[in-house]
Amino acid sequence: MEVSKRLEGVGEYYFSQKLREIDDMNKAGKQVINLGIGSPDLPPHPDVIKTLQDEAAKPNTHAYQNYKGSPVFRNAISKWYKKWYDVDLNPESEILPLIGSKEGIMHVCMTYINEEDTVLIPDPGYPTYKSAATIAGANVVPYTLKEENNWFPDFNELEKTDLKNVKLMFLNYPEMPTGQLPTKELFQQLIAFAKKHDILLCHDNPYSFILNKAPMSILSIEGAKDVAIELNSFSKSHNMAGWRVGMLSGKKERIDEILRFKSNMDSGMFLPVQLAAAKALELGQDWHDKLNEVYSKRREKVFELLQLLDCKFDRKQAGLFVWAAIPAMFKDGYELSDSVLQKSNVFITPGGIFGNGGNKYVRVSLCATEQKIEEAIKRIKN
Ligand SMILES: Cc1ncc(COP(=O)(O)O)c(C=O)c1O
Repeated sequence: MEVSKRLEGVGEYYFSQKLREIDDMNKAGKQVINLGIGSPDLPPHPDVIKTLQDEAAKPNTHAYQNYKGSPVFRNAISKWYKKWYDVDLNPESEILPLIGSKEGIMHVCMTYINEEDTVLIPDPGYPTYKSAATIAGANVVPYTLKEENNWFPDFNELEKTDLKNVKLMFLNYPEMPTGQLPTKELFQQLIAFAKKHDILLCHDNPYSFILNKAPMSILSIEGAKDVAIELNSFSKSHNMAGWRVGMLSGKKERIDEILRFKSNMDSGMFLPVQLAAAKALELGQDWHDKLNEVYSKRREKVFELLQLLDCKFDRKQAGLFVWAAIPAMFKDGYELSDSVLQKSNVFITPGGIFGNGGNKYVRVSLCATEQKIEEAIKRIKN
């Protein structure tokens, strides 16, 4: 069958392909250590699992759910945004629960993009921004983030580009893959830029609690709701990646517009999942501290591994990964990644999959035990 035109230029997701290759290597007895994917290996809090179990055991929790999500869940999100980000969100009208923030990216693109529209995406950045915008029919234009500019957008460069048809701009701080934290000034600049050029900002914020003591939301900036919406996720902060729970926040009009698409696309989440997610949002600082203690120890080991490969990195990165510049002897991150995979049976992600701006980098995940990372170090040494 001929596939639709909208899939032109959208290949199979890199990791889906790579995991097949790693699977084949494992079948051949290689026992590859996968330091590629950012899927938390630790479980959610026991109270969260207990809520899911208790609620799922009830006879009256199995029906279709409200498209806008359970009021209990929306209230919990509203309180959580106030507590951690100091953002006021009306639980009735300014919050939309999602089946993960990845699906939210697609909903946002499908809600706003027409064929003649341009979408700005960060390079390096999360590959889904490009594929979702492409599927929605947009002209996708990357804006380059550079290490010497703290991985922030270069506003002078942006102002020089043709912004006439730009309707939507994705951004993500703490940035994945670079681990760069946001500043209040950066968010203020972005909001001013969006207002000036009449662009909708979609800030994707799944990493704000990982190896970061000061979680920040773009919606905490004055006037942000006029031009920005924010995606958030339980996948990383609450170890619930497989549960598929996320959320979108923004002003009522944006939520209503996106719900118009989403309610035609899927249905409300399983109620016990929503109630368990609401429970997760009650967790305090000690939950995040404990998680970060584990990631921080793993990160030290990853630093050791990267030093062994002669890579250079900033020690103050946030998020679930370490981003590192490769040594000059390798053409690009793909060459280094393939070499480590073939010689040591260890998989690390080539930075080029996040855009051309990532070509000279690799990304190592913290979602493996210290023991596994030590084993990877041993293999690379040998
Ligand atoms: C920057 C970024 N945004 C969104 C997602 C998707 O998260 P979710 O599990 O909520 O769909 C990821 C997952 O890796 C990510 O790295």
